[in-house]
Amino acid sequence: MSEQQITVRRLQDRQGANGATAVAHPNIALIKYWGKRDERLFLPWTSSLSMTLDIFPTTTRVHLDAEASDDEVTFNGVPAAGEERRRIAGFLDLVRRRAGLTHRAVVDTRNTVPTGAGLASSASGFAALAVAAAAAYGLDLDGTGLSRLARRGSGSASRSIFGGFAVWNAGNPTAPPAEADLSSYAEPVRTGDLDPALVIAVVNAGPKEVSSRAAMRRTVETSPLFEPWAASSRDDLTEMRAALLRGDLDAVGEIAERNSLGMHATMLGARPAVRYLAPASLTVLDSVLGLRRDGIPAYATMDAGPNVKVLCRRTDADRVAEAVRDAAAGGTVHIAGPGQGARLVDAGGR
Ligand code: DP6
Repeated sequence: MSEQQITVRRLQDRQGANGATAVAHPNIALIKYWGKRDERLFLPWTSSLSMTLDIFPTTTRVHLDAEASDDEVTFNGVPAAGEERRRIAGFLDLVRRRAGLTHRAVVDTRNTVPTGAGLASSASGFAALAVAAAAAYGLDLDGTGLSRLARRGSGSASRSIFGGFAVWNAGNPTAPPAEADLSSYAEPVRTGDLDPALVIAVVNAGPKEVSSRAAMRRTVETSPLFEPWAASSRDDLTEMRAALLRGDLDAVGEIAERNSLGMHATMLGARPAVRYLAPASLTVLDSVLGLRRDGIPAYATMDAGPNVKVLCRRTDADRVAEAVRDAAAGGTVHIAGPGQGARLVDAGGR
């Protein structure tokens, strides 16, 4: 028996089977991640901060197959192909290298969020995959280690390892790659008394025309507005942390809204421009202004898609959802609260 077979046999003895299942939730950034300083290691230019949601979970099962010659990946029962499959297989290669194993895996992912619509399906997807794959291949990682691993699949996934509010540290920008890699991970953020909700208006659930990965690269390379936004985003993060600690939802919302609009401005400045805002997005943004005029604290944030997420108090969420639903004619509206971090639900994988 080869050394590897012995290792896998040991894993099987320990876990009952060479597989594991994990669940993770998407997160919505209130201070955005937009732009990598190292594309291979997924090191961002700026730190970001998000709230993990309690809706749209992704459940991923990873099972090692000693006989297989290639990884087998399915999304909601449909075999993955092209770029999607390549990303998962590349991620598994990283896990295999760290585990010192070469066994291929069967990966079965169930997503409940519309994929590729700027609703952070890659965040929940790679957070669940990191937790399940680490367990299946026998890597013993704590939250920091899992966050660093998830980051290598998709930057925003580093934050979904944790529940509630999490900050993803950009890490040391002047350090050599190996050291910078160690210093860039997410961790929970301390907050005061907040009872937040995010009302999510899905104005278009179709896949986006430009992936966030390609769009952020183009923004960093060509937008003259990128550097000023990155500098102001660092200040926004400092203010955001203080506002969260005070439990000051209005300040949290104001900072989140300006940070997101600033990110979209940097994209509009790219050459050629990247524009995710659709007419329906603007109508929803107007309804958020209308809510504020009526004395309801509500603040908008948008990601790499036309959908709008509105931060408000839990007690105002139904009223906000109603206003947003009217504005997003034909779209769907969901109410989310703070959710749990990624976790193993079955270390046996069956
Ligand atoms: C706009 O994490 O999807 O949602 O690291 O290339 O996979 P990759 O990008 P991804 O980008 C998310 C960008 C964002 C803002 C955010 O979530 O911080």
